[in-house]
Amino acid sequence: MKIAVLPGDGIGPEIVAQAAKVLETLRRDGLKIEMEYAHIGGAGYDAAGDPLPDATLELAQASDAVLLGAVGGYQYDTLARPLRPEQGLLRIRKGLSLFANLRPALVYPELVNASSLKPELVSGLDIMILRELTGDIYFGQPRGIRTLDNGERQGFDTMLYSESEIHRVAHVGFQIAMKRNKKLCSVDKANVLDTSMFWREIVTDVAKEYPAVALSHMYVDNAAMQLVRAPKQFDVILTGNIFGDILSDEASMLTGSIGMLPSASLDANNKGLYEPCHGSAPDIAGKDIANPLATILSVAMMMRYTFAREDIAQRIETAVRKTLQQGLRTADIAEAGKQKIGTAAMGDAVVAAL
Ligand code: IPM
Ligand code: MG
Repeated sequence: MKIAVLPGDGIGPEIVAQAAKVLETLRRDGLKIEMEYAHIGGAGYDAAGDPLPDATLELAQASDAVLLGAVGGYQYDTLARPLRPEQGLLRIRKGLSLFANLRPALVYPELVNASSLKPELVSGLDIMILRELTGDIYFGQPRGIRTLDNGERQGFDTMLYSESEIHRVAHVGFQIAMKRNKKLCSVDKANVLDTSMFWREIVTDVAKEYPAVALSHMYVDNAAMQLVRAPKQFDVILTGNIFGDILSDEASMLTGSIGMLPSASLDANNKGLYEPCHGSAPDIAGKDIANPLATILSVAMMMRYTFAREDIAQRIETAVRKTLQQGLRTADIAEAGKQKIGTAAMGDAVVAAL
């Protein structure tokens, strides 16, 4: 298991250090794990003048999986856009063709009270959001800021999906649904956008190959509402890059904290990049208060999807459950009567439970 480790910026290094403890524990148990570190994001810019240095992309390409922390920081906000930390993330996703982004929103029984919704709405919640990750308005050309003949300036981006891009992510969606409750809701804005009309047509077509899966379609504005009205109606949500970005942040709040949400970004051969859904949180960086569980749970996803080791994935997830059952909480999920601990202590607790 050759793993490229890219801690990145802000809280990235702290949370990745906890996930690395988990990997080291598994290695001591006999797994053949190799970890090699490289820079990405602001750290890439500081080290090599590039948010995705060549050496980092080459390491990622030569690895089976990538573990990533987070990118971004105030000090980089004034850089030209190609040099900004986020570009490192977008380029590595594109560079590795990681088109299928899995963002599970799972409510642990121990955390039902941490959710901003009523416990009965979220208890037992288990949704998988599948976000297309290498297309859409994120990558469509042309884009830019231009000056019209009358002197007025205009910003523009291009929303764009080709048939093959929709096709391959739809297949992944149906295959995931087949392993779950066989319900897939495709989210779009087909009442307004041509791109979405086309998306809906292709998804409907692919559905014919999966007669066991119940396919529904929902407009994204309604989906945003339904997620906080009755989230348990969803099993798998399939959607494009920009809608998936927004809906997955929304869904994270159902689970209590975005600090609990892992993700997997897969290519066609299950090579993957694994990262928490949250950002670099520069305001709390270096304070040992960030929640490392999303990153640790991302390692579980790595074992499940890239290395096909469901047994180890479950062992990690069970260890996380145990630490929650012990009443241990980082600040973001703290409650009265529970023990508030820091980032490193939470990492140690998971390792002990492993
Ligand atoms: C995410 C993030 C990224 C995205 C940013 C940091 C570029 O919000 O992974 O959801 O928009 O994809
Ligand atoms: Mg996002």
